[in-house]
Amino acid sequence: MSAYPSVITVARYADIERRGEILVLVHQAFAALSPPSGALNETIDDVAARFASGPVLIAVAGGELVGSVYGAVKYGGLYLTRMAVRPDWQKRGIGRALLTAAEGEARSRGLRKLTLRVRVNLPENRAFFERAGFTVMGQGQDPGRPAYEVMESPIADPAS
Ligand SMILES: CC(C)(COP(=O)(O)OP(=O)(O)OC[C@H]1O[C@@H](n2cnc3c(N)ncnc32)[C@H](O)[C@@H]1OP(=O)(O)O)[C@@H](O)C(=O)NCCC(=O)NCCS
Repeated sequence: MSAYPSVITVARYADIERRGEILVLVHQAFAALSPPSGALNETIDDVAARFASGPVLIAVAGGELVGSVYGAVKYGGLYLTRMAVRPDWQKRGIGRALLTAAEGEARSRGLRKLTLRVRVNLPENRAFFERAGFTVMGQGQDPGRPAYEVMESPIADPAS
């Protein structure tokens, strides 16, 4: 039995008019991280800036926004940030579906990889991305921020 709508649309491009909803979703999804994520300081203007720098992919269920991820052409591929699934919708395949859509987006732009960063202190996130085909390529750390790992996933040739 599920109280969830059965129709889920994943990874349509977001309409910038939904930027307020996206901000709320990202804040909800990142609320539990420790130390607190910089995502919590972001404003509606920051969300608008994400639209300017690349595709914003969303997942919708019953008209409600349940997942999102920001994309930007950067670091030699499609760089993904702030992947967010609404807490009550996690572990239902939405994160994986957003990654599949991002892969299609990268391929359509002729890009050969997805890239992202995960916090070193969130091994469950690293494991999630590894199961989705990502590999740790290195580490980094910004001043005063948690260390992160750089992960990449190659874009398969559609003919292969
Ligand atoms: C990380 C995050 C985006 C993952 O999204 P998600 O929608 O929960 O991910 P998925 O459901 O696709 O996959 C997670 C796991 O849930 C389980 N799962 C997926 N679908 C399922 C289903 N229908 N029933 C039960 N379990 C399921 C699986 O174990 C899956 O892992 P696997 O597919 O790699 O084996 C989400 O947890 C989140 O928003 N976290 C907070 C913000 C954050 O940390 N973002 C990432 C920053 S790098």
